[in-house]
Amino acid sequence: MSRRILVTSALPYANGPIHLGHLTEVIQTDIWVRFQKLRGHECYYVCADDAHGTPIMLKARAEGVTPEELIERIGREHRQDFDDFLIGFDNYHSTHSDENREFAALIYQRLDAAGHIASRTIKQAYDPELNMFLPDRYIKGECPRCGAGDQYGDSCEACGATYTPAELKNAVSVVSGATPVEKESLHYFFKLQDFEAMLREWASPEHLQDEVANKLAEWFGDGLREWDISRDAPYFGFQIPGTEDKYFYVWLDAPIGYMASFKSLCEREGINFDDFWAKDSDAELYHFIGKDIIYFHALFWPAMLEGAGFRKPNQICAHGFLTVDGQKMSKSRGTFIMARTYLNHLNPEYLRYYLAAKLGASVHDIDLNLKDFTQRVNSDLVGKLVNIASRCAGFVNKRFDGRLSGQLAAPELFRAFTSVSENIASLYEKREFSRAIREVMALADQANQYIDEQKPWVMAKEAGREGEVQAVCTMGLNLFRVLLIYLKPVLPKLAAAGEDFLNVEPQSWADIGTPLLDHTINPFKPLMTRIDEDKVAAMVEESKETLKAAQPTASQDQPPADSPLAKDPIAAEIEFDDFAKLDLRIARIAKAEHVEGADKLLQLTLDLGGEQRNVFAGIKSAYQPEQLEGKLTVMVANLKPRKMRFGVSEGMVLAAGPGGKDLWILEPHAGAEPGMRVK
Ligand code: MSP
Ligand code: ZN
Repeated sequence: MSRRILVTSALPYANGPIHLGHLTEVIQTDIWVRFQKLRGHECYYVCADDAHGTPIMLKARAEGVTPEELIERIGREHRQDFDDFLIGFDNYHSTHSDENREFAALIYQRLDAAGHIASRTIKQAYDPELNMFLPDRYIKGECPRCGAGDQYGDSCEACGATYTPAELKNAVSVVSGATPVEKESLHYFFKLQDFEAMLREWASPEHLQDEVANKLAEWFGDGLREWDISRDAPYFGFQIPGTEDKYFYVWLDAPIGYMASFKSLCEREGINFDDFWAKDSDAELYHFIGKDIIYFHALFWPAMLEGAGFRKPNQICAHGFLTVDGQKMSKSRGTFIMARTYLNHLNPEYLRYYLAAKLGASVHDIDLNLKDFTQRVNSDLVGKLVNIASRCAGFVNKRFDGRLSGQLAAPELFRAFTSVSENIASLYEKREFSRAIREVMALADQANQYIDEQKPWVMAKEAGREGEVQAVCTMGLNLFRVLLIYLKPVLPKLAAAGEDFLNVEPQSWADIGTPLLDHTINPFKPLMTRIDEDKVAAMVEESKETLKAAQPTASQDQPPADSPLAKDPIAAEIEFDDFAKLDLRIARIAKAEHVEGADKLLQLTLDLGGEQRNVFAGIKSAYQPEQLEGKLTVMVANLKPRKMRFGVSEGMVLAAGPGGKDLWILEPHAGAEPGMRVK
């Protein structure tokens, strides 16, 4: 029976690039969705950028653009990254959309009408210079318990104490450096506790993994509390209906973004929205998320849906965190790898396969061990899978004009391959991908063993055994085709290339049992090449370099995810004396060269009218070296020389723009001479 299924991945924040952690989630989801489609179900996969909140507002300010411009640009980058990793979204939207504004208002109004919204005045830390309330994480000071410095407004990393920002000693606003004051403001709350009975019943193994259900039991034990869903202006988000200057907290409208993205798909493709979201819907709804956001998805979200008269999810599918070489992704080790950095060096299907081979249905963390990654992909995909095809294709193409024989040489082996299809399907269905991959690779071993035993290359040399060669190779290619379908959710591009080679229509799960006989295939082209260890090393190097090259332009800076301080530093005010210290000079770019192994940097030789300086500048995204030679620019000439990985940098050139391709090196004209002072 055909099912109707709607699937989502968590909405990435629109204030930074996609990294391998995000990819772990969307790859897991995408494999599951592709599997459902392959099985012939009506399945939709939607996602969006999570575009609201204080960090995005501040980042836009720091870059001198509007939040709308920022989320537009980041949204474009996110889509491109996901496309290139073969993530088959049916729709990728934004939470800053008309659909989302309408649904957020509708859900809020229904909750309010049913008495689930409360309001009262609370005291909160306020930045008197920037005239804005400060989230806890934007305040730092000394821990009231142990005295450790540089601690956030909500908890101490040194001793583990939790407290309110008001208790913090010598607190400062991370944004402006000002001392926060306390200020009153009216806030709106969602009464989560109204839904306790419903949630306790809903939080069953039918809807949640065991580990998640246990976590919820703990939370129930602590008691459910009202949830603050409003924020004061200035805030980038949706205004709360019926208020002047109150906005929905980003996490209120974020999950509603799932509905909004689906709604926009419905409009485009004529799908009936209510079939999927009405209270009595018999369509299925699944949310794939990381374990850090369970509270929002397993408590707030079902309660909001219930309170507003919509259906609840069938399942929250939570996964663990990606670690690299056994540790949290780290910038200094070069293991905080952006999607784009990976793509600069490696084929996306390597990662899709490796993650599939590691992912299960639990919330355990998943480790990307770079050595194991290389070996596993090379041995499984190139050494086993693709090898089957390449061992058989040559004979069929050269000796039989691409023609397969009319019968299977070993029908019982073919049956052994196809009879496990429901077992493999049920592993995919349960998100036990690693077990599915193990089954498939065991079959690939059997296929190679069959060819080893038959030795078509020996037969080919013996007179009168032509028919046997054709039969064995036909058999091998038929086994290959079955494996290709089993792996199609994981390796869509390889599967398509394989279908091309086999000269067949896109295969679905239902085609598994039908062998290819009396059929002409196409010439064989290598379907996948081995991972070169050097490329993995280069990816790690580039990831380290992104960190260093980040210094010259703020927009490239990828701050540690856990540090709002590093996130959006709005440059603090400086005294005139500080400014006067800068020795700004006109410099002529005498030479500009690529830096071997660096993706962002150019090496510039700057002429200061007699003196020459060597400077590394992170402007390669915007300029070709030859465009720069002979141009004048402005440089900071008295910057202390800095040792970089590629050499010593003796100064800095000034450039302007948001970054990437849009970066302009300042080009003084009219009477400027190398060496001239600028101020
Ligand atoms: N915007 C919220 C989600 C709103 S959903 C209504 C958010 N965004 S996020 O960009 O921080 O994370 C998006 C997803 O990526 C989350 O599910 C998160 O758990 C996941 N991951 C982020 N880093 C990860 C790893 N290192 N490993 C695996 N998943 C990770 O949270
Ligand atoms: Zn402390």
